Amino acid sequence: MKKTIILISVVFLVSGYSPVFADKPDKARCPQARKTPAAPPNYLKLENPLEVNAKRLKKGEVLYMDKAKPMQCLHCHGARGDGTGELGLQANPPARNFTCLETMKNISDGQMFWAIKNGVKGTAMPAYSELADWEIWVLIHYVRQFGK
Ligand code: HEC
Repeated sequence: MKKTIILISVVFLVSGYSPVFADKPDKARCPQARKTPAAPPNYLKLENPLEVNAKRLKKGEVLYMDKAKPMQCLHCHGARGDGTGELGLQANPPARNFTCLETMKNISDGQMFWAIKNGVKGTAMPAYSELADWEIWVLIHYVRQFGK
């Protein structure tokens, strides 16, 4: 019996297969499938009116990590922006991985503005309707720097 258990363990180790770590979900996915639909045309063409600078990135960081209501972004999108926040991994679809440029390059500023302001129906992405427009724009600058 003991020998069988040891033999099975060795086989698992050698084959690199571990049932505990199989299909580990906390890996940042890239490229990532998107469930978010395209924003209405009047949003899509919006461009970020604020130039990016250190002060604005800091404001974005404070909102992302601490102040945004109903819930800070990091719980889903993660402190590193890779979508591995504790709720982001549970969500179906999972939260956006902002470090994945392959996916992010196709998401315009106006698209993000719409998603943040209104939330995304059918996903865990909540609406941040109480944020001022400038707060959403600094958040967008902050979100983009994860891919740099
Ligand atoms: C409760 C979890 C959760 C929180 C909190 C959250 N998000 Fe999301 N977010 C998601 C999910 C889920 C998606 C949709 C992923 C998909 O399209 O498949 C998403 C999508 C997005 C997108 C991409 C939209 C697109 O067109 O692909 C942006 C930008 C975004 N979130 C920004 C934010 C910002 C900024 C905050 C904080 C102010 C935030 N999110 C808070 C879960 C969350």
